[in-house]
Amino acid sequence: MKINVITIDGPSASGKGALALGIANIFGFKILDSGSLYRLFAYFLKMKLSSNEIADQIKMNIEFNKSNEKLIILHEGKDITSELRSEEIAKLASEYGSKKTVRDSLYSIQRNFYDGNILVADGRDMGTVVFKDAKLKIFLTASPEERAKRRYIELQNRGQEVNMPALLADIKERDLKDSSREISPLIPAEDSHLIDSSNMSLKEVCSIAKNLIKKEFI
Ligand code: C5P
Repeated sequence: MKINVITIDGPSASGKGALALGIANIFGFKILDSGSLYRLFAYFLKMKLSSNEIADQIKMNIEFNKSNEKLIILHEGKDITSELRSEEIAKLASEYGSKKTVRDSLYSIQRNFYDGNILVADGRDMGTVVFKDAKLKIFLTASPEERAKRRYIELQNRGQEVNMPALLADIKERDLKDSSREISPLIPAEDSHLIDSSNMSLKEVCSIAKNLIKKEFI
């Protein structure tokens, strides 16, 4: 049986997070940013916590606060969003994300975000592994150059130092790692709707998604 989940998968900086937030705000849906769980894993591993301790920290001491503009992540009340969004943590998250033990320990945490109400889940394997039974699946992509440009603006706005050629190289490296790993590789689910946002604004992508949601849920 299909469950009330909208999955949005795709490569780094393809706009999955912005689309998920946009849809969640328009319709009042719950949201799961699964990439942040992998980033949290990397963040806590850097603090030398064990896998079990990390899972406990995520379950008990992490809070996700959704505002209109962004998703804020709090650890014991402290805003750690900027630290989690750094390129260093992204690289580590991608490295640990290729390990079966890491993916297994995050599987039930991700599944538990679904409580029967409509959930928007974005990541790499939402439609292929975690919510295989989702009612609506979207695969959102864009050219590496366009994605590097978007990430550049995002990091600059956060006041972080950025270097465009290095950013593009990082994105290409992460694409390769994410799509060629053995476990849960980044590939579109067979029953997903493919959207290439290279030449589209967020508003245009949201509008396509809105029509798909209306067809499926409303
Ligand atoms: O989406 P985001 O860039 O925050 O994800 C960070 C990293 O976490 C990705 O590069 C990817 O390797 C990993 N990830 C994953 N599976 C997911 C979400 C993220 O392996 N469902």
